[in-house]
Amino acid sequence: MSAKHIAIAPSILSADFARLGEQVAAAEAAGADRIHVDVMDGHFVPNITIGPVVVRALRRVTGLPLEVHLMIQQPERFLDAFAGAGATALTVHVEGTIHLHRTLEEIRRLGQRVGVALNPATPAVVLDEILPELDLVLVMTVDPGFGGQDFIASTLPKIRRVRALVDRVRPACELEVDGGIHPATAPLVVDAGAGVLVAGSAIFEEPAGVRAAMERLRRSVEGSGS
Ligand code: DX5
Ligand code: ZN
Repeated sequence: MSAKHIAIAPSILSADFARLGEQVAAAEAAGADRIHVDVMDGHFVPNITIGPVVVRALRRVTGLPLEVHLMIQQPERFLDAFAGAGATALTVHVEGTIHLHRTLEEIRRLGQRVGVALNPATPAVVLDEILPELDLVLVMTVDPGFGGQDFIASTLPKIRRVRALVDRVRPACELEVDGGIHPATAPLVVDAGAGVLVAGSAIFEEPAGVRAAMERLRRSVEGSGS
């Protein structure tokens, strides 16, 4: 009974945007721990999604933390806007900003939880100098840009490396994974050390509905991890 709580962060990227408030409420009622908001700019990734106005709208309909995953170039240009819109956490990609340390300081100054994301091809060692600044490390388990992609299994050893580093340097930092997470892959990433699971299509495109999907995902990791 001492198994650690694995947090689930439904990604609204796969939600029905015409019924967004309703879908977020369903996820909240089904026990979501936070809402994951995927922001894409058509430059950093080959897709365009949403901006601060949607975060502002979500802030009115849910009490859950809103973690904003910024898949945009030069995210430092928009930190203020997303913080002001009601975000709880801002996650930037190490590949998207030149002055990462300055960017992280600014996120902290804005009163946000500080997150850094790594693309699949980016090695864990980039965390060496910045881990003490972080509340959240997001290991991408697909190449960012789209929901519904296949989990990249070669990210598992990286998750283990990040876990070991976090445990040694900053145990309070969360380790989150994002992309291709569903009941078959979730136990693998939890065993590797993930504590937060982002899932989009596995929650919002599941024919049985959001509640059943959340239950399946949660059940799949019961007894995994330590
Ligand atoms: C991918 C996004 C993910 C995405 C996950 O670029 O960062 O958050 O929505 O979607 P699934 O769970 O369908 O792989
Ligand atoms: Zn994401």
